[in-house]
Amino acid sequence: MKSLHPDLARVILSETEIQARVKALAEQISADYASAERIYLIGILKGAFIFLADLCRHLTIPHTVDFMSVSSYGKAGSISGAVRLMLDLRDPILDEHVIIVEDIVDSGHTLDYINHTLKGRNPASLRTCVLLEKKRESLEVPIDYLGFTIPDVWVVGYGLDFADTHRTLPFVAELNRQVYQR
Ligand code: PRP
Repeated sequence: MKSLHPDLARVILSETEIQARVKALAEQISADYASAERIYLIGILKGAFIFLADLCRHLTIPHTVDFMSVSSYGKAGSISGAVRLMLDLRDPILDEHVIIVEDIVDSGHTLDYINHTLKGRNPASLRTCVLLEKKRESLEVPIDYLGFTIPDVWVVGYGLDFADTHRTLPFVAELNRQVYQR
């Protein structure tokens, strides 16, 4: 077996576990929206691009994909929680069945902001699909489809990064403390 990169402490979720869960989420979504004309998946860049790509390829219902990007000043531990829109959707979502697709909910500020922003655009319905939720105090944001609850540690891989590194690993791993504390 290939040894772990020295930045990484341990694998938290293996590629096999992730792929099985993503497929199950897609099956659940396909069943729940079986009678909808189509669903509108909105991935939050950059983190969600891998999860979204895998998720949508398991869907058995018509769907379309778009992206948003936000910049957050409210990372865990900070006070403001302010989020700013950096890249908006290409088209209106009026009367569409929308699912926001996120890689992780940490403080919850990002998902809360996007949820409120999109609600104001009058979609037919609005739900959230999140791969990872951290076990910690965070904003009360509704998560309709959740992959996994993970410990409150810095994780990378499967879309998640540290200074834009380790993002494309096929598994989710805990980052060594020394890496982000140095
Ligand atoms: C990460 C992640 C979520 C957000 C979650 O994005 O992809 O969007 O943080 O954190 P929160 O619940 O505390 O708001 P990041 O800002 O690191 O950008 P990236 O996805 O481009 O890496």
